[in-house]
Order: sequence, then C-alpha cells, then structure tokens
Amino acid sequence: MNRTDSFIAQTGATPAGKDAISRETDAAIGVSLPHESAALHVSGEATYTDDIAELHGTLHAALGLSRHAHARIVSMDLDAVRKAPGVIAVLSAEDIPGENNCGPVLHDDPILAVDEVLYLGQPVFAVIAETHDLARRAAALAKSDDVIRYDPLEAILTPADAKAARQFVLPPLHLKRGEPDAKIAGAPHRISGTFEVGGQEQFYLEGQIAYAVPKEMDGMLVYSSTQHPSEMQQVVAHMLDWPAHNVVCECRRMGGGFGGKESQSALFACVAALAAKLLRRPVKLRADRDDDFMITGKRHDAVYEYEAGFDDSGRILGARVEIALRAGYSADLSGAVATRALCHFDNAYYLSDVDIVALCCKTNTQSNTAFRGFGGPQGALVMEVMLDSIARQLHCDPLDVRVANYYGVGERDTTPYGQRVEDNIIAPLTDALLDSSDYRARRAAIAAFNAGSPVLKRGLAFSPVKFGISFNVPFLNQAGALVHVYKDGSVLVNHGGTEMGQGLNTKVAQVVANQFGLPLSRVRVTATDTSKVANTSATAASTGSDLNGKAAEAAAQTIRARLAELAARQLGGQADDVQFAHGTVSVNGGAMPFEQLVGAAYLARVQLWSDGFYTTPKVHWDAKTLTGHPFYYFAYGAAVSEVVIDTLTGEWKLLRADVLHDAGQSINPAIDIGQVEGGFIQGMGWLTTEELWWNRDGRLMTHAPSTYKIPSVSDTPAAFYVRLYQNENAEPTVFRSKAVGEPPLLLPFSVFLAIRDAIAAAVPGAQTAPLLRAPATPEAILDALDALQAAHATEPATEPITDTTA
Ligand code: MTE
Ligand code: HPA
Ligand code: MOS
Repeated sequence: MNRTDSFIAQTGATPAGKDAISRETDAAIGVSLPHESAALHVSGEATYTDDIAELHGTLHAALGLSRHAHARIVSMDLDAVRKAPGVIAVLSAEDIPGENNCGPVLHDDPILAVDEVLYLGQPVFAVIAETHDLARRAAALAKSDDVIRYDPLEAILTPADAKAARQFVLPPLHLKRGEPDAKIAGAPHRISGTFEVGGQEQFYLEGQIAYAVPKEMDGMLVYSSTQHPSEMQQVVAHMLDWPAHNVVCECRRMGGGFGGKESQSALFACVAALAAKLLRRPVKLRADRDDDFMITGKRHDAVYEYEAGFDDSGRILGARVEIALRAGYSADLSGAVATRALCHFDNAYYLSDVDIVALCCKTNTQSNTAFRGFGGPQGALVMEVMLDSIARQLHCDPLDVRVANYYGVGERDTTPYGQRVEDNIIAPLTDALLDSSDYRARRAAIAAFNAGSPVLKRGLAFSPVKFGISFNVPFLNQAGALVHVYKDGSVLVNHGGTEMGQGLNTKVAQVVANQFGLPLSRVRVTATDTSKVANTSATAASTGSDLNGKAAEAAAQTIRARLAELAARQLGGQADDVQFAHGTVSVNGGAMPFEQLVGAAYLARVQLWSDGFYTTPKVHWDAKTLTGHPFYYFAYGAAVSEVVIDTLTGEWKLLRADVLHDAGQSINPAIDIGQVEGGFIQGMGWLTTEELWWNRDGRLMTHAPSTYKIPSVSDTPAAFYVRLYQNENAEPTVFRSKAVGEPPLLLPFSVFLAIRDAIAAAVPGAQTAPLLRAPATPEAILDALDALQAAHATEPATEPITDTTA
C-alpha cells in the first residue's frame, strides 16, 4: 500500500493536486483542496514581512546583546556605537517613553535591559542604521568592554540548580488525587527513577521580524511576523504610552511560528516601533538566525523524579512525579505551559491515585516559551517512559501495559484534574493501528532479526496520545471574524487567526465558501489586522480553525440568512428552504446565480457584510485547586515506529512509522495529513537530534543549523504511513472537525521508545530498563548501552529497580 492509497482508503478523499479538485471546485467540506498559498509558496511570490516593499527612508535595526548570563551593568558608553558607519541612532531603555516590558503575563520582561542582565544574549541596546548589515556591525560592538562594563554575578544555569536554590519564576503547581503514597507503598511492584528531556528551538524558517511604519497623529502600523497581533498592538501601545487605537498590527503570514511567535515576537515589534516613533521613519528589525537563537526562548527542557506502584498486569495503582521545567529568566507563558504539563501527565491513562508537581525553574538563560504541544509533550513523555520501564520489569510487551492502563469508557474515566473523558476512542483507534501496522507479527520478526544480528539491533514501539483541546486559560477561547460580500458576489474574509503554514486560512475559506455554495476561488482571506477584528487571542493551542472557523461561519450565516430572505421574496417559497450550491441560489423551483442575488440585495439595501463571534462552551478552570474542565474535547492518535541502531556508533534510523490520527471529521484531509506528518517529524527531532547546549558561562553554543540539527527530508522514513482515523467530534465543533496542529507532536514518542527497545535488545536478558535520556543522540544511545551492560554484569537485580537517566 503506498501513501496515496492509504490516504484515500481512510479519508475517502482525493489528495491535494490530484484529479479535478481545485479552487474552482465547490469548496466542499472534507475535500483536500490545496493550501490557499501553495502556489505562492513554491513560486516565491508569497509575501512575508521581509518581502513587503520598503518605503522610502526605511532604516534597519539590530540589537546589542549581553555578554554575561547574570551581571550588573556598571556603565554603558554607547558613543563608539553611535560613531560606527551608517548609524543613525542608538537606543537604550531610557528612550522608552512608556513601559519597558514585553512580557505577556507578568511584567518581568524588559524590552531593553536596565541595570542588570539576566541571560547571555539579552538585548541591552538597539542600533538603527542605514542598512541591515551596518546595523549588525555596530551592534556587535556590544562585545567590547569599552561599550558596556559588567560586574558579573552568580548565574544559575540548570533547572536542577534552580530547584536546589528554590528559584522559581512562579509558585510551584501541585495536584494530588487520592492516596498515592499509600497506593505506591502497598503495590506488588514499584519503579522509581529520574529522567530528563532537552528543550527545542522552534526553528521557524522565517526568523523574528517586525517592520514599523509611523502614521499621522501618533499612529503606528506594525507589520509583525506574529501569532498574536492583538498582543503586539498592546505591548507596543504600552511601550509608547499610547492608547491601543493608535497602533495597528498586521500579519499576512508567517514562515512558521510553532509557538515561538506567540509572545516573543513582542521584543522585535517593540524595538522597531520605538525607533520608528523616535526617528519618524519606517524601521525594520529582522533578527539574524544566530541572534534569534540567542535572544528568544525555546521549548522548556525538563528533569523529572518519578515513582509508581503497579500490579502484575502493569496497571498503575499509584504514581508520583515532579516535573522541573526550565522557565528561563522570566515568566513569559511558563505558568500555562506548566499547567498543561501537569494536565498531560496522564496522557491516555487512568490514574486513580496520583501526585503531580510542576516547577517553573528560574535560570539565567533565554525565557522559554510556547512550542507545539505547550508543555503537553513534556508532561506525557515521562508517563510513557514509566510505562516502558514497568513493562520491562514485568517482562511483557509495553503495548500490553499501555492498553491495561487506558482510560475506560463510562468507568475509570476521570482525569486527575477532574474532567471526565467522554469522547474516548483510544481503544478502537489502537486496534485499527495494530492491525494496519502488523504490530504483533513484526515484533516476532524483529526478535528473529536481532537474534542473528550482533551489531545492528532493531526496536519497535507503540505509543498513544490523548491531547486536550482549548486554551487552558478559559477566557482566551474566543474569536471574531468579519465577512464582506461585494456587489459582484466575491467574498472577503478577515478573522483574528494567523496563518503560519498550518492551513488555517484555507480551512476558514472553505467554511465560508461552503456557506455560500461557492468555489474557493470566490473567497479571499486577507491579512490578519487588529483594525478589523479586535482583542483576538493568539493563534495557538491548536484552536485556530475551531475558533476562527466558527466565528467566520457565524458571520457568513448572518449574511446568508439575509440573502435567503430576499431570494424567497423574489422566487417564492420559504427562506429556510433556500439552497446555496454550485454558485447558484435556488428555492421553489427557481434559481439564480449567487452574484445576481447579491446585486439585487445591494439595490434592496440589504447589509452584505457581517461580523461573527464565537466562544468555546463548557470550559472552566480553577487555578487554585487545579481542577475543572479545561478542555472542550480531546484529540487522539497513535503511532508504531521501527528503528535500527548501530550499537558501535550509536547511529540510528527510523525505518518505518505507521500513524493513525484523529482529526475528527476533517475539513481538509490533505492539510491535516500534512500537519500530522510535520508534527511527527518535528517531535522526532526534539527527542533525537536536536540538542541545546550551554557552556559553563551560560552561552548557548548550538545557535545555528551547523550545530543544532533539525530533521531533514532524509530523516523521514522511507515507509511512512499516515492516515486519519474516521471519526466525528462528539462536540459540535466546526463541521465536527478536531484541532490537529499540536497533538501529532507526541506521536514520535514511539520513535524514542523504539530506540529504547533496540538498546534493550542489545543486552539480552538484562533485568533493568535502558536508561536513555532525551534527546537520544548517538552519545546518549551509547551511554545507555554502556549503562545497561554494566547493570547487567552485576545482576540479578533486586526489586524495586531504579532508573536513573538524569
Ligand atoms: N504548522 C506549520 N506549518 N507551521 C507552524 O508554525 N504551528 C503549530 C501548528 N502547526 C505551526 C504548524 C502550532 S504550535 C500550533 S498551536 C498550531 O499549528 C496553530 O495553528 P492552528 O490552531 O490553526 O492549528
Ligand atoms: N496553548 C497555547 N497558548 C496558551 C495556552 C495553551 O494552552 N494557554 C494559554 N496560552
Ligand atoms: Mo502553539 S505552541 O500553541 O503556538
């Protein structure tokens, strides 16, 4: 079965670009229409912020960065910087008329440092010059002792050290249900151990960028590559001490965000706007890749301590975990990230008695932020590692231990935070995947291969995902849209969401086109613009199409109802019976082209545009007790991965991956499959090749693609079977679809676990689980092999075994 076949078998749809599906076809729901910008992406015509034609007089900014992880600024003499070629101005914190903050929740994030620097790479001053290169050259003078003199202070560089020093950016979160200690103590078997997972750079292909254009009467237009235009508008307004209505933020598209532009586009927007305001000229700030790496936060790395008690089938009776996340120097979104980590520790498993602690450790490093999954992956990964260890202690297939722990249907279905899992499909989804991936037969084949292969060892693993959908801060679950129908019957849609490649605009256009029975070519989605839809939330938490799709649908429904009223008057019949399909409006046996009805509506003075608004029902959360109903619903998925490792070099390769993912009733299967494939490979990178490494001074040494290795197309397995699970959302979401952006990032847990499986196979008869840290770089794989061999040499081990990977 090739990929296209499996795709059609599951979705009943046609992949993008194949057969007759195009923008001229009726924008039916569930059809794989091409991404709205697909042609522009490949031709290079798609306009990103740096492609916007520069206005006459445009200047360029660059940032002077701190050389210390933690230091007092003794003195600053920026004259040498001012005298550098092409420099127009050098700005520091004193030049900020309003609030010197770009932090989204707590106001602990200076735009430019004052008195003290808190990480190596923190912006201290901004250079504005005639060209991008001259600005960078001058900003590099920050490296000179003559420019900034520091008095170094003690720096805390790891979450473990921060925890030991009780240095947190926010108070610890603690969720306890039942009697975990007693259950663990009384269980027939126990495991305990430590584990660690690294962080991850978002590595959006388009780096952080803002272009600020001053307007009359203290106005400012900020083009920003951001997931959160409303937040950019707010922080720029606060910084300039202006009302928000003076500032407009616009974003047509991003070249990827992955969470890295949810809050941290703010610094760039603020500096560009500050310079534009002071110099009264347009100013662009485009961070060089290395600077972007050094300045901005990443996925939170974590260290864990865990303990569980379980029965003979591997069913967990009691569990305890402490998740120490590296928040970095400021709070940013870490509180919500930690809350999501806490709410995803259960992953797909019922935990009757559980104790979960999440710590936001304050370190003198970049301020970590949103990254696809938003703490969810960090919460769930340790549970999967624990289950793997449990299975190895019981000498059974980890798959069986996983299934034994699954949430039930109608019983064993309440999460640790008190929400019932009412839409559980994990068991049937698992069965379908085990079937299509031939799991049991391949397990036997791999054992046979390993018996005859002394150096290369294969490993196989299954892992499931259950991911809660909604912002875990309830008020953020709101969205607005504005739909215009022009006199000629063409349609323009504006909504509060942002396009970052995920296909949001395509889905929203499909929803609106569907309301009017029009092909996609008749619907155009504009840039996101704070002057069109106000007070929007970030496009994040995978909720983009759930929220904005519903808001745009509501707006289109309002216009459609007005048009139906008129059609019924003109053609006879009831407004409720009017059909909009194939560009035609029909009722009572009569019909007319959509544009004819629209023309008539204009002459009849019918309002042909409308807003629409949506709020997610059911969600609530008590931040004190850490209980409530934080998620509208859950998205599910599972994967089976097979790897081969070289036990002499630690090299490895993913040979095959089978993925079955639940996108509900998919609005656009091609786009959703793309999200699943991309999320899988991106998550695989996090757990294997992507390694962030700070030296003793707190300098991030892996700050470019030369040293920081994201997966490339050659890391994609030759056999990659990605399918959507036929399912409709139990909740009435837009066309009963499900959010798909983040959950697939957890599917490659199976890759990490397959590497563990291969390591275990290299030491036959070992009684303990391999102690593999993440990312599973070749070094980590060799370390785990050595540790397992050493442990095996001193066996038989006594229970309980202890895992230690940190
Ligand atoms: N896909 C692409 N191509 N580029 C991105 O930046 N971001 C991910 C995901 N998929 C991202 C992506 C993240 S972190 C989120 S939260 C969602 O898309 C946001 O978009 P959605 O809510 O519309 O799915
Ligand atoms: N995801 C992304 N951003 C957020 C969330 C979330 O769950 N909650 C608050 N901000
Ligand atoms: Mo996504 S991490 O919620 O931007």
